[in-house]
Amino acid sequence: MDKKITIAIDGFSSTGKSTLAKQLARQLGYVYVDTGAMYRAVTLYAMRSGFIAADSFDREGLIESLGAISLKFVYNPDLEFAEMFLNDENVEKEIRTLSVSQLVSIVAEVPQVRAKLVEQQKQMGERKGVVMDGRDIGTVVFPNAELKVFMNSAAGVRAQRRFKELVELGQEVTYEDVYKNVIDRDYIDTHREDSPLVKAEDAVEMDNSYISKQEQFEKVLVLAKELIG
Ligand code: DC
Repeated sequence: MDKKITIAIDGFSSTGKSTLAKQLARQLGYVYVDTGAMYRAVTLYAMRSGFIAADSFDREGLIESLGAISLKFVYNPDLEFAEMFLNDENVEKEIRTLSVSQLVSIVAEVPQVRAKLVEQQKQMGERKGVVMDGRDIGTVVFPNAELKVFMNSAAGVRAQRRFKELVELGQEVTYEDVYKNVIDRDYIDTHREDSPLVKAEDAVEMDNSYISKQEQFEKVLVLAKELIG
């Protein structure tokens, strides 16, 4: 039987991490875990509970309520990926809005939030055979992952992609707001104290500003197959 490995995909927002991770998981028969969805679900909980809004953040209130937050991925065979459930409610759609994107990096700065989610992520990857994407997977969650990929691309290219996605989801957004959100999240994600977004020393860097998703997938698949043997 093939050896099972752990694949960690980190990088800046809207660099196509989840597209690549899903393709790899499907091809290799691995489990795909979108850790951004978990931070987004905690953010949605914080918004609904009144702990966070555009101009306020009751950090302590959120920390005290963390025990009441249950996160689960449930595989949807029609969509061929696992959807995010927050306290048994499917929130896959709600967590993808620009309003959640505008607050998620602030919630993700809280060490207690990170500790809770990292513990769950480690458990999900315990048996290997997993492709996990996020910001700290190769540095904090799985520092011993056999394959680490760090993704980047020009901010304008990323904002265009994200803008197109949101419009296709029927959301009313402007390109300027999406571009600002990409820049703001990059800044917070790379400057926070706990587990900032940095390239792991042993990660393979992929800049996909000018290569297609397919080309990128094929390159990473070759690397994965070399390791799997
Ligand atoms: O991957 P995404 O854009 O859905 O992630 C949303 C936010 O969650 C991102 O701006 C930072 C945070 N995040 C994180 O801090 N650590 C992770 N492992 C994944 C996401």
